[in-house]
Order: sequence, then C-alpha cells, then structure tokens
Amino acid sequence: MTASGLEGVVATTSSISSIIDDTLTYVGYNIDDLTVHASFEEVIYLLWHLELPTKEQLQELKQQLADHMELPPEIIESMKKYPLDKVHPMTVLRTAVSSLGAFDDEADVMNEEANYRKAIRLQAKMPAIVAAFARIRKGLEPVAPRKDLGFAANFMYMIKGEEPADIEVEAMNKALILHADHELNASTFTARVCVATLSDIYSGITAAIGALKGPLHGGANEQVMKMLTEIGSVDKVESYVKDKLEKKEKIMGFGHRVYRKGDPRAKHLKEMSKKLTELTGEPEWYNISVKVEETFTSEKPLPPNVDFYSASVYHSLGFDHDIFTPIFAVSRTSGWLAHIFEQYANNRLIRPRAEYTGPSMRSYIPMDERK
Ligand code: CMC
Repeated sequence: MTASGLEGVVATTSSISSIIDDTLTYVGYNIDDLTVHASFEEVIYLLWHLELPTKEQLQELKQQLADHMELPPEIIESMKKYPLDKVHPMTVLRTAVSSLGAFDDEADVMNEEANYRKAIRLQAKMPAIVAAFARIRKGLEPVAPRKDLGFAANFMYMIKGEEPADIEVEAMNKALILHADHELNASTFTARVCVATLSDIYSGITAAIGALKGPLHGGANEQVMKMLTEIGSVDKVESYVKDKLEKKEKIMGFGHRVYRKGDPRAKHLKEMSKKLTELTGEPEWYNISVKVEETFTSEKPLPPNVDFYSASVYHSLGFDHDIFTPIFAVSRTSGWLAHIFEQYANNRLIRPRAEYTGPSMRSYIPMDERK
C-alpha cells in the first residue's frame, strides 16, 4: 500500500519538535511560551543543543551570529548581475546559499565541530542575503550588519537601512520563533534526505530552500498577500472566496496536512496582524483577512495556517511581498540545521521504494519500426 503524499507515514524519529494533539513544541517547550518569553537566538540555541541556553551561552551565540553576518563581496557582486526586475528573491537565496559553499573552506569538512561552525556562518548570513538583494534590486547598496543589534533587529535594519522600532523588532522576533521548526515538513524532510547521502550542509540547505519555495509550503504567504490585494476591500471577500471555491481553486493560507483543529501558530500571527495593521493605519488588511477566514471556514472546515496572518504581519512591517517566503527561510534555517545535525548523528541513507505502475516488460522496438 502506498500512502499518497506519504500522509501519515512516520519516516524518522526526532527529538527536535513535536506536533501532538495540535500542540507544537520545540524540544518539549510549547511554542506559545517561547513566543511570549524567548528571543529567536534562544530558540536557535534550543533547537541546536536541545536545551535552553544559560545567559553566557546565549551571549556567546549572539556574538557568533553577529560576527558572521557579513557576506563575501563576490556574493553581493553576483547578485547585482541577476535580471533584477524579474528574478524571485527565493531563487536568489537558493543560488546564494549554494554559492556560499564555494567560499567556505570547511564546506566539505564533515565533523561535528566543523558542521557547527558552518551552521553559525550560514544562519548568520541568511538575513544578510535576503536584505542585500531586497536593496540591490532597488538600486540601493547593501547595508552592513551592526554588532550591537540582535538577530531580528539586524535583519530589519539591513533591509531598511534604519533601526526598527521596538514593536517591529518584537513582532519580527515572534514571527521568526513561530517559523523556526515544524517537525518533518516538506523542506525539512528534503534537507534530511539530502544530507543522509552524506552530502554537505550547504547542499542540504539549498535543497530545503527549493522545497520551501513552492506555494503549497512556504510560498503560500506571498500568495496570501496577493489574494488580499486582489480582493482589496471587505465587501468583496464573499464573492471572491465563493468564486474560488466554485472553481475548485484553493484559498492560500488554509488547511494543513497534520493539524485538524487548527495551526497553533496562527493565533499569534492573527493577534500581531490586528495590532500592527492598526498601528500602520491600514486595518483593512486585518479586516479583509478575518472576513476571508469567516467566509472560507463557513464553507470548509479548514482553519488558517501559519502563512495566512503572517502575510498581513510582514506587509505591516514594510516588507516587499516577494520577500515573505525568504523571511520564512531565514527562520526555518535554524530548524533545518537542527535536523541536519540530528540526521548526521544517526545517519542511514534515506531510500524508499516506489510501487511500479508503468507498462510490464516490453520488447525493444528498432527505430524504423516505431510509429
Ligand atoms: N483551499 C481550498 N480547499 C482546500 C484547501 C485550501 N487551502 N486545502 C485543502 N483543501 C481541500 C482540497 O481541495 C481537498 O478537497 P477534496 O478532498 O474535495 O479534493 C481536501 O481539502 C484535502 O486537500 P489536500 O490538498 O489533499 O490536503 P493535503 O494534506 O495534501 O495538503 C495543504 C495540505 C497545506 C498543501 C493544503 O491544505 C493546501 O494546499 N493549502 C493551501 C496552501 C497553503 O496554505 N500552504 C501552507 C501550508 S502550512 C505552512 C507551510 O507548510 O509552509
């Protein structure tokens, strides 16, 4: 028996995150608590070490991340050569991460210490890549990271060139925490399959970015904003949603393979969306979203997932809509790396079987006898 889309298949054991009864935990800590109390750096430490850091350990990690954010100039130069008006930032991110491997002398050194050092370098450089490209395509120079800013603040600072307000940093920090890990989602599985061949970390993360890019996974947040923009006002929601459903089209940001009652991350993003859209004086984005939720869920019992309210949150934080998914990638890199460590630590090649459904044994037909 094959399971379509591997639904319900338990493909590995993991001590990193769990989804039990619609509750998501990172190493046993409920994300509801982490979102309220932790910093993103604390969560990175938790995912990589399976324990919360002490004050000193957290300080050391923050320092290491701040020290390694700067990009090799060659990466910045190569970004300038892309077709800037056309290329999607996820394509740029995927390509830049792959290129980073070429500039890392330890890229193919496969021991635990070297892998940890690479993880720091890669995690630190992810926001710098996204920010640099967001500026380059607008004809602006990339902004160098600041060592006195935390991860979330630095990320926003590098994108905008100005220090973000506290409330923006708080929202960004929460969004990064909520997206950090998610059990065996498609991109994490991709990363694990890749490194289970004993390929390197850069290959694993490049593969994972490719999987995250699709609209059924991380790419959904950009599609949600596209939909909200197309709808434009609350009074147009009902006809828009009903029309989509009649055409059997999906409404992005709803449904989930694992959650049935609801995605526990969505409520935090919904709350942030309300607060931020009021602050920016654009409450319509929240109001349209709520109306879409009400209309859609009255037709189909599929609650919003993490991508639905993150769209209006990122919009309110002033980000271009096509960097929503790259922001997701910056956060999820922490989880991908944790899973890569776990895979290396107890590795076996991941190589399932396929049930063959093609034609049975056939005789070769010479070229001039084929019709
Ligand atoms: N809009 C309308 N109908 C839907 C939706 C939706 N968003 N999601 C599922 N359905 C319907 C689907 O049409 C199908 O109906 P039927 O049985 O009548 O053919 C049924 O629900 C099962 O859907 P499925 O696509 O087979 O479910 P799945 O478990 O394979 O897919 C999913 C899960 C998340 C890919 C899917 O719900 C979906 O495409 N959602 C929209 C895209 C999205 O928001 N993705 C982000 C996922 S969460 C964060 C992340 O992973 O990045």
